[in-house]
Amino acid sequence: MSEQQQPRSIALVTGASRGIGAAIAAELIAQGWYVVGTATSDVGATAIGERCGDGGEGLALDIADSEQVSALIADVLGRHGKIDALINNAGITRDQLLMRMHEKDWQAVVDTNLGGVYRTCRAVMRSMLKARSGRIVNIASVIGLTGNAGQSNYAAAKAGMIGFSKSLALEVGSRSITVNVVAPGLIETDMTRDLPEASRTAMLSRIALGRMGAAADIAKAVGFLVSPAASYITGETLHVNGGMYMA
Ligand SMILES: NC(=O)c1ccc[n+]([C@@H]2O[C@H](COP(=O)([O-])OP(=O)(O)OC[C@H]3O[C@@H](n4cnc5c(N)ncnc54)[C@H](OP(=O)(O)O)[C@@H]3O)[C@@H](O)[C@H]2O)c1
Repeated sequence: MSEQQQPRSIALVTGASRGIGAAIAAELIAQGWYVVGTATSDVGATAIGERCGDGGEGLALDIADSEQVSALIADVLGRHGKIDALINNAGITRDQLLMRMHEKDWQAVVDTNLGGVYRTCRAVMRSMLKARSGRIVNIASVIGLTGNAGQSNYAAAKAGMIGFSKSLALEVGSRSITVNVVAPGLIETDMTRDLPEASRTAMLSRIALGRMGAAADIAKAVGFLVSPAASYITGETLHVNGGMYMA
């Protein structure tokens, strides 16, 4: 609609089909970014494209598949010339007490939630280093800091994302690339919809603000970390949990 004098900044948001990722895509588009959002299916990707309008596009991606990650990022770089911000939001849960946790559920969660971050960061790194700028925001979880019975796989992956992000921040800071984490608390999305009532009530009782968060609360934090206002923040974890956990 409006005339763009400057090429728009490009943000890649994984898992933008619903929940927190969809809210991040909407927030960044509102800030003027062009968003490439991903879903695991073509149907989901098409829906993202329709939602984004001329503010972005949707593509299909499984972040557990190295070849798909490399191909998608090469495609985006080929068509748009750059990726200014990478938001690693896609994630899954496969909850089970450790005694009953099958190795496939351990592998799936660690390989998707943590391995996916490795793959996307590695694939965008050369172009960000060349550009001497870039923003990476990884969506971890309060569970990575507190732990949670039945979520040892998820907690390990999310805690791993924090150590990963600090390390990468040290590697690329000299090129003005920032790497930060947003650690959401209990947020109203598909992921938390099926929580047993007893767990939900117990968790709510531990939240200072007394309510679950909205996906938009996380999106605003991401919007800040990719904005010029956050250019001197790196290796940091921003806790957005309503006082459920105070680091
Ligand atoms: N909700 C919470 O309370 C909460 C709290 C702390 C942290 N988080 C974290 O925030 C992030 C988003 O959570 P959410 O609640 O919005 O989750 P959600 O509603 O379950 O959405 C998950 C998103 O990830 C995508 N995805 C799943 N597996 C993928 C894969 N292998 N490759 C690429 N994309 C994949 C999904 O795509 P499809 O739609 O195609 O399946 C979807 O877009 C996750 O990393 C989650 O761990 C959430």
